[in-house]
Amino acid sequence: MRSIYIKESSRSFSLECSDIASDKSISHRCAMFSLLSNKISTIKNFLLGEDTLSSLSIAEQLGATVVRKDANITITPPKSLTEPDNILDCGNAGTGMRLYAGLLSGIAGSFVLTGDKYLRSRPMNRVTIPLRDIGAKIDGRESGNLAPLAIRGGALNAFEYHSPIDSAQVKSALILAGLQADKKSFYKENLLSRDHTERMLRGMGANIITNSDGWIEIEPLQSPLKPLNITVPADPSSGFFFAVATAITPNSKTIIKNVTLNPTRIEAYKILQKMGAEISFVEKENLYEPIGDIEIAYNGKLSAITVEKNIAWLIDELPALSIAMAEAEGRSFVKNAKELRVKESDRISTVLEGLHACGIETKEHEDGYEVIGGTLSSATINSYGDHRIAMSFAIAGVRCGMKIQDVACIDTSFPNFFDILSQITTIE
Ligand code: S3P
Repeated sequence: MRSIYIKESSRSFSLECSDIASDKSISHRCAMFSLLSNKISTIKNFLLGEDTLSSLSIAEQLGATVVRKDANITITPPKSLTEPDNILDCGNAGTGMRLYAGLLSGIAGSFVLTGDKYLRSRPMNRVTIPLRDIGAKIDGRESGNLAPLAIRGGALNAFEYHSPIDSAQVKSALILAGLQADKKSFYKENLLSRDHTERMLRGMGANIITNSDGWIEIEPLQSPLKPLNITVPADPSSGFFFAVATAITPNSKTIIKNVTLNPTRIEAYKILQKMGAEISFVEKENLYEPIGDIEIAYNGKLSAITVEKNIAWLIDELPALSIAMAEAEGRSFVKNAKELRVKESDRISTVLEGLHACGIETKEHEDGYEVIGGTLSSATINSYGDHRIAMSFAIAGVRCGMKIQDVACIDTSFPNFFDILSQITTIE
């Protein structure tokens, strides 16, 4: 288990980040959606993280030919997806497993999806139940809730499904199934979750309409889709660690270049702005989604905040946001965030355990927590194999020094995290 020590640094910094990791959600989808075309997809700046490389390997196991030159890849899909001769390993990636479950449910053949010990303990019934309801044949431990999942793909029925969870993974799994169903399907969620799937598939020619009442209409595919031609933007969730570092370090500023400005992805920056940081968004282009730069500058001590709305839009950033809350003036609240409990770790418990070790007072609730702002102090943090816990406390280390245990997980989403962090502090 690799540990690392981050040294406290009182120096201010000015960071220009043009190498924040590529977007994980978009990269997963590039690997999978290219299989829905019959032509070569060209993907530049694909995320070379373990999670997304797992999705790419699975595409190869299903018959695609992948040619990779650093982060630039071409994916030639097979004429029809082939039944793999081995299990499909999604690694640590919930997105990989849940989206592939939707896609493979409609493909003739037998498929087994598995993952690492963390992924094998995360709930899958949020996708397996609605998929079974439309005819998918899926089994797994705990009656299909836990991977490995065994899928016998075949014909799927159209559906009308109002999801009880605002989850892009569930939505995307059902959309991928709906594209293969016998008739038009309808899907609704209470809050629009990240909508990369709808945007990309629409860009590839799929007939997917999002109505003003939130219902999404999905027409089954009549013919293969157009191939993807995309440069994956930087990941705002990865950039957010450096946004927090900037917001808590006097006289510092950071610019994160070429990042997706999709409104479902930048809510945490807006919260940090409300807490007092100076933040601006500059849109530069629109390729499937709005893309541009985010500039962050320290603007004095942060103030406490209550986060209770649009939770799906900042769910991945809450661990890092909690570090900002720990350094803010007053008591912050996170509410309606029970989904945190089923991420790469139980993030309510891992965030609070870490903050407690750093001398910060907190209060736990079933669906959220409270953080009483104070002064972070040096501690040893167990990441529990969760990349976002490791990176959040590494950022806190810039303020006070921190030992992080089990940092290998950072490679799942942000392989060059420490290269960028070393520009603002010393790492041993
Ligand atoms: C993701 C959706 C989110 C997010 C995850 C990536 C995606 O999960 O937390 O990191 O790419 O669809 P949920 O859809 O389960 O909320």
